[in-house]
Amino acid sequence: MIVTVPTADVPDAKPLAVRVSDHLTFAVCRLEGTYYAFDSRCPHRGGQLADGEVVGELLVCPLHHFKFSLKTGRCVMPRHLKLRSFPVREESGELRIELEVEQDAPRPV
Ligand code: FES
Repeated sequence: MIVTVPTADVPDAKPLAVRVSDHLTFAVCRLEGTYYAFDSRCPHRGGQLADGEVVGELLVCPLHHFKFSLKTGRCVMPRHLKLRSFPVREESGELRIELEVEQDAPRPV
């Protein structure tokens, strides 16, 4: 499955929330012309990262303010937490985000 998003919809310094299904919303971010797509649900306690902020190279969760690298998805502290990320391709002003069907299944928090 491919989810498409116009690049112009991704704001500066904020993620864009893209609802895929009842189980999955993407937090789509831009950093220096590169786009990233993550599961919006924070691996800490399920905060919605799409409601957070992009500060430099970091995506900041609005719930407890944990910071995640946009480039690696890894949490600055604690390091064992990592975002679920999805491949993004940019074509003619549009982002194409790849999603395997099984990645859209409900997950426990
Ligand atoms: S839920 Fe995201 S930092 Fe706690």
